[in-house]
Amino acid sequence: MLEMKEQLKSELSEAKTAEAVEQIRIKYLGRKGIITTLAKNTDFSKLSVEEKKAFGGKLNELKSFAEEALTAAKEMAAASHVAKKSTGLDLTLPGSSGKLGSLHPISLIQMELETIFQGMGFTVVSSPECELEYYNFDAVNLPADHPAREMQDTYWMTNGMLMRTHTSANQVRTMEKMGVPLKAIFPGRCFRNESADMSHENTFYQCEGLMVDENISVANLIAVMKTLLSEIFHRDVTVRLRPGFFPFVEPGFELDLQCIFCSGAGCSTCHGTGWIELIPCGLVHPNVLKFGGVDPEKYSGFAFGVGLTRLAMMKYGIPDIRLFNAGDLRFNEQFPVYI
Ligand code: PHE
Repeated sequence: MLEMKEQLKSELSEAKTAEAVEQIRIKYLGRKGIITTLAKNTDFSKLSVEEKKAFGGKLNELKSFAEEALTAAKEMAAASHVAKKSTGLDLTLPGSSGKLGSLHPISLIQMELETIFQGMGFTVVSSPECELEYYNFDAVNLPADHPAREMQDTYWMTNGMLMRTHTSANQVRTMEKMGVPLKAIFPGRCFRNESADMSHENTFYQCEGLMVDENISVANLIAVMKTLLSEIFHRDVTVRLRPGFFPFVEPGFELDLQCIFCSGAGCSTCHGTGWIELIPCGLVHPNVLKFGGVDPEKYSGFAFGVGLTRLAMMKYGIPDIRLFNAGDLRFNEQFPVYI
């Protein structure tokens, strides 16, 4: 009888219309129905009083179970019919689950960097995107007549402020705020008046790092950069420094990463050179320390400005920088919801 209940239940779950439910009712409870026949065909005279009681009880229970289930199924079918007819909407259908969304690749790489640097004792500092000319240029050793300003044309506000061209704009602010010794990173969005192509955008992300203390040297810089890159790419990395010019560091470098795709043999990613130019960096220029109220005789430091956008392109194999800001869900949905 238990089996019969299960069978009835499964048949009812398939029945979507009142007619289908009625067919099932006839099959089980009709004059020649399964349950009716079961009662009819049983020779009660052969059963003892106890057996009669037990069998009769079970039979009645089965009957009322069937009646209740059939009534409920009939009501469901009717409700669904009405709902469909009146609104075109079937309220009895299961709902569709909402989409979870995913993190933007820049957020992913930023979160990863923050975790790595926090592990090395750096503080994560937030910084303004709209800046004073002073912090973006003058305070990082780029006075008004400096030719290097030419390379960083940007969007100016009518009140004389500007959209920062690099996160280095926050170097002096951080020294003023935190004092020395300090170890901080400041990731964020930067802007330049740039015509967009596969590798240039007017809006992009950098992460600046600044460490100032007594006796900081290039050795500290290299150690921190190697830790960062080996954690990001999950392998031992080889790096090299080439001289690079930035008015706010002295000496200044371009830090290259030995190509992780071809291990230095030369491939399309490294344009056959075996090296990928990745992180501009250097030792903080004494003038910048002075602007930050720090004595360059006593303290020294290093600074670097890693392109988060560039790093995300390399890590996730994104071929075109314009994909980041295009808002195309087919791109955005390819990244995980969390890390
Ligand atoms: N601010 C520089 C740029 O955007 C990068 C940089 C940062 C270089 C820190 C040296 C030290 O090009």
